Amino acid sequence: MKTEPSKNSPLRRSQLSPLLREYSRSMPLMYRTKVANRDIIGAFHLVLDCIPQGARLFDVGCGTGALLYLAIKLKQATLAHGYDLSREAVAASETVSTTPPELRVTHSTEVFPPQDLTNYDVVTMVDVLHHVASPIQDTFVSKLANAISPGTLLILADIEGTNLFSNITARLHDLAVNKQRVRPRKSTDITTILTNNGMQITSITWCWSVVFKSFVITAKKI
Ligand SMILES: C[S@@+](CC[C@H](N)C(=O)[O-])C[C@H]1O[C@@H](n2cnc3c(N)ncnc32)[C@H](O)[C@@H]1O
Repeated sequence: MKTEPSKNSPLRRSQLSPLLREYSRSMPLMYRTKVANRDIIGAFHLVLDCIPQGARLFDVGCGTGALLYLAIKLKQATLAHGYDLSREAVAASETVSTTPPELRVTHSTEVFPPQDLTNYDVVTMVDVLHHVASPIQDTFVSKLANAISPGTLLILADIEGTNLFSNITARLHDLAVNKQRVRPRKSTDITTILTNNGMQITSITWCWSVVFKSFVITAKKI
C-alpha cells in the first residue's frame, strides 16, 4: 500500500455513478435502484477519498458490496472484503457477473463486528451504526475499535445525529421504507468512544445529501 497522501483531486459524486450502474446491472430491481443511486445519498465520495491507493479494505455492514467495488475501481484496493447481516443484500451481490477477484462479500449472523481485523489496512463502516439496535451501539463501536490493530485506519461514516432535521428525516425515512426504528448518533459521541478505546481521531468531515447530513470520521489505532 502507498502511504503518502493522495495527490488526486477530491472525488465527485458523479464519478461514482457509472461504476455503480455497472456493478448493479444484474441485481434485482430494488437493489439495482438503490445501488445505482448510492452516490446521491450519503458520503461514499468522501469515504473513498480517505482510502489510500492499493489498500487492503474491510467493510463492516457492506450491503451489496458497492463501496468495495468502487474501492477496487477507483483506489486499486488489493483486497476488498466485507460482510452483512442481510441475506438479501449478499444474494444481490452474488448476481454480479463481473465480480473482481479481490472482492468478497459474505453473510454473517453476528450482531457485533469480527474480533480480529488484523489483515487489513483500512476498515470502513458506512451508514450502518444508525441501524444497529440502540442499546448496543456504544458496545458495537468499542468492539470495532478493539478489533483493529495498530496502524489500521478506521473510516466511520453515518448520519449526523446532532442535526435535528437530518435526525428526524432519517428516522422517518427508515420507519416508512424499512419499517425499522433507527438512531442516528452524534459524531461527538462516536469520537469519544473511539478515543476511549485507544484510537486517535485524524479527521472529521461532513456533507449534505438531499435531506441527510453525514459525518465521516477517520481514526487510527495508536
Ligand atoms: C443503509 S445500509 C448500508 C449498506 C452499505 N454499508 C452502504 O453504505 O451501502 C445498512 C446496512 O447495515 C446492515 N447492518 C445492520 N446492522 C448490522 C450489524 N449489526 N452488523 C453488520 N451489518 C449490519 C444492514 O443489513 C444493511 O445492509
